[in-house]
Amino acid sequence: MTSPRDIIQKKRDRGTLTPEEIGRLIRGYMSSEIDDYHISAWLMAVYLNGMEITETVALTRAMLESGRGLNLSSIRTKKVDKHSTGGVGDKTSMIVAPIAAACGVTVPMITGRALGHTGGTLDKLESIPGFDPRPSPDRILAILKNTGAVIMGQTADLAPADRRIYALRDVTATVESIPLITASILSKKLAEDLDGLVLDVKTGSGAFMPTLETARDLARLLVDVSRKMKTKIVVLITDMEEPSGRAIGNALEIRECIDFLNGNAPEDLETISLALAAHMIRLGGRAKSFQQASRMAYEAVSKGAAARKFREILEAQGGDGRVVTNPDLLPRTRFIEKFRSARDGFVARCDAKLLGLASNALGAGRHRVDDIVHPEVGLYLERKTGDPVKRGDVLCQIHWNDESRLRIAMPLIEEAFEVRPRPPRRRPLIHAVLEG
Ligand code: URA
Repeated sequence: MTSPRDIIQKKRDRGTLTPEEIGRLIRGYMSSEIDDYHISAWLMAVYLNGMEITETVALTRAMLESGRGLNLSSIRTKKVDKHSTGGVGDKTSMIVAPIAAACGVTVPMITGRALGHTGGTLDKLESIPGFDPRPSPDRILAILKNTGAVIMGQTADLAPADRRIYALRDVTATVESIPLITASILSKKLAEDLDGLVLDVKTGSGAFMPTLETARDLARLLVDVSRKMKTKIVVLITDMEEPSGRAIGNALEIRECIDFLNGNAPEDLETISLALAAHMIRLGGRAKSFQQASRMAYEAVSKGAAARKFREILEAQGGDGRVVTNPDLLPRTRFIEKFRSARDGFVARCDAKLLGLASNALGAGRHRVDDIVHPEVGLYLERKTGDPVKRGDVLCQIHWNDESRLRIAMPLIEEAFEVRPRPPRRRPLIHAVLEG
């Protein structure tokens, strides 16, 4: 049998590994026959030399088969999930899951926690009193059958190889590899027993993929690998140069989602959320065309069905569904500071990464896995890129509790905003849509 050393050497020398070799590496790692140092060296070889599509498919399959995944075969309707590569103020999961479920799609949504400067859907949902992000497998099935959507954390059985390999990538500087990212995302998502997947690949300062070129490369590979794994996929490349919507921070973002579902949405968030939801509805077989699906998504919001569905989802997972009609039940800070413009002009920059870091500095995210998240803190953007401002106008509200944290956040906020005499050129919100 080929040794791990031989497999590493082959990749180091730019060879193409066979599915058997990749399967052996992953199975051996999971059974502790192969060590962290083997996988670390192999990851660096992959990072430097890349992988062929056959290798990426084999890696996705091997990681997917490292656990048991969900078995949703008893659910007759189509199962579709949405995943985002992560951004600042990126709250579309809590909007699209109820919209798609209200339109008859089953949504088994598995989601994560804050990572770096980006927020995590689970942390946001946990700002709702009582919400349980880890229902048991029986409960997941019951919720899906009765409610049509569940939003939960990754279970131990779901692609466990990805969790271990991701931790190694994190400490070996090998996260930013397009084939490794593709296999990581798809192994987890395909373990959900899906009929279709809608992926939101973010690009811009607040995204994992800062340039449009790398976002396109990732999107293309996601489409190609999903096609080979026989799962329908739509990938949207969306902008993350500035935060999505106006709220950044856990409870503030939930409040913005509730406002959205009650018919009061910022334009950028509406454009992206309705597009994502419409693709889910179409992949879920509930509409024949994107146009029809878009109308359905719009009506689910305007007629209140999506807000009612969100309440059902929260209550099915133990959360206090009254927040949907009374968002004041969400936690709030003791203090709100206003950050004002020093000059007249137009907002030329409202940098997503810096604002994400500022929100984290206030306590909304984690620097280490065991850090406590403060659900109530964050930022609310009163002005965004392109908006005219007068000297003294509020650019953003800072929701804070701890003065020492405010002192760290303040310079980041100052750097994030730039006001210039002329309006900047508008960036598109949706750069591209790819389908497989
Ligand atoms: N998200 C994932 O799930 N995996 C990656 O490797 C990167 C982003």
